[in-house]
Amino acid sequence: MRKYIVAGNWKMNTTVPEGVELAKAVVEKAKSLPANVELVVAPPFTHLAPVAEALKGSKVALSAQNCADHEKGAYTGEVAVNMLTSIGCQYTILGHSERRQYYGETDEKLVVKTQLALAAGLKVILCVGENLEEREANKHFEVVTEQTKAVLYNFTALDMKNIVIAYEPVWAIGTGKTATAAQAQEIHACIRNVIEAKFGAQVAQDMTILYGGSCKPSNAKELFAEKDIDGGLIGGAALKADDFIGIATSF
Ligand code: 13P
Repeated sequence: MRKYIVAGNWKMNTTVPEGVELAKAVVEKAKSLPANVELVVAPPFTHLAPVAEALKGSKVALSAQNCADHEKGAYTGEVAVNMLTSIGCQYTILGHSERRQYYGETDEKLVVKTQLALAAGLKVILCVGENLEEREANKHFEVVTEQTKAVLYNFTALDMKNIVIAYEPVWAIGTGKTATAAQAQEIHACIRNVIEAKFGAQVAQDMTILYGGSCKPSNAKELFAEKDIDGGLIGGAALKADDFIGIATSF
């Protein structure tokens, strides 16, 4: 029973009123979506509570873009997992390449964050993906395999039910340069094999693996037609309700 998901990572975009408007537009347009596709929006921390209000009674789930690597206490500027669940957040993105690259997010920290998130009842969207240099050096399979193992091999098959993997090649993020469906498919199949090797075939088959990186309505159909691509983690195109829903109707 694999779940299809389209998640919008708003990154550091929109003011709170703009974000609430966007969430309302997504809720409205999501009404016509088939029941087998789950929609998730991930606005900035400041937006979570008002966006949670806007999503009430809808099928659209709420996600944070990150969480703290401590439960509580003297960690100025950080947001704890129980703060997220207390306003109705269901997911958190972890390990986005922008956090790995600009904020020193390490695999060790991601293990701790994932533990805290799962213990609090949050589902995790764990991002993996190679950069351009690694792709050009033909190391993409190796990099993605290592990133996946480094975090997920610390968890159990049961934990995998609450984890979604997002493959986001760094060279495709915000560049307009999408991975071809074939390039994405071969990495998704590789990730599924890495999951199977540790947790067995059933867990691997049930795992939702999203593609992210310049995904838009015009290329989503081709990507989602691949057998191991179960939806998308969308950046720029998630900031327009029509484009976001256009992607979600591409299965
Ligand atoms: P873009 O869709 O803007 O390329 O961003 C992808 C992404 O990083 C989603 O997390």
